[in-house]
Amino acid sequence: MNALEQAAGFVTVARVSDVEPGTVRVIELEGRSLCVGQTEDGEWGAIDNVCTHDGGTLGEGELDDAAVECPRHGGRFDLFTGRVLALPPVRPVAAYPTEYGIRVLVTLARSDGDDRCLSLAEIAKREKLPHAYLEQLAGDLRRAGLVTATRGQSGGYRLARPAAQIAMTDAIRALEGPILEMPCAGVGDLEHCDRRQPCSVHEVFQRVYESLSLSLGATSLAEVLATAGGPPYPIEVRRRRIALTAERNTQETPTA
Ligand code: FES
Repeated sequence: MNALEQAAGFVTVARVSDVEPGTVRVIELEGRSLCVGQTEDGEWGAIDNVCTHDGGTLGEGELDDAAVECPRHGGRFDLFTGRVLALPPVRPVAAYPTEYGIRVLVTLARSDGDDRCLSLAEIAKREKLPHAYLEQLAGDLRRAGLVTATRGQSGGYRLARPAAQIAMTDAIRALEGPILEMPCAGVGDLEHCDRRQPCSVHEVFQRVYESLSLSLGATSLAEVLATAGGPPYPIEVRRRRIALTAERNTQETPTA
């Protein structure tokens, strides 16, 4: 681990730069164990490293196109969404595009007054995130018109418009697609439903969709920034984190 990574709090099992196209690796960041992979096409993804079937280490598995194959029993997960693609697992693993993407936006919003671009390396260091994966997310944010990118030595990313004009719905749609994975949920989208009417779940999904859209649409990036950091963790949580860090450091100290 180099001094920069130490200062940033990185615990490196493998470097993101070690991840060859068409492979996955285990990357540990801030107490979170990730399976980070790069497809043959150069697209990056990151999902939880622990298989939901029986604890297999996904970062030690194989990557076939965008499917991560668990080395224990061959279950498969989507590298970008964590969705199950092949049994035996039935539950998805967590993926983090929204969390990481919003962290990128918050970091850019925080430095918006400085009138300068931020490089992804700088954002990755500040937020302790896998740099290469951020390129993927920053690309999604740029295509959605939420950030702009400038090339060159002092280039980097900045918000495309003031934080008060970026709603969380814009960010989530850019990073994950539809707010709710239900093709018929949304005004005027009923024709996408291929079930016979009346549909037993449409009403409830419509209500969930409306409530999510309303609350996320009314929350701007500026508000997220204003509450970033939040109250300090309760004392018992802080104790648990200190104990966990101490335990991890002991495991990593090489024995003579
Ligand atoms: S532990 Fe992953 S498929 Fe069984």
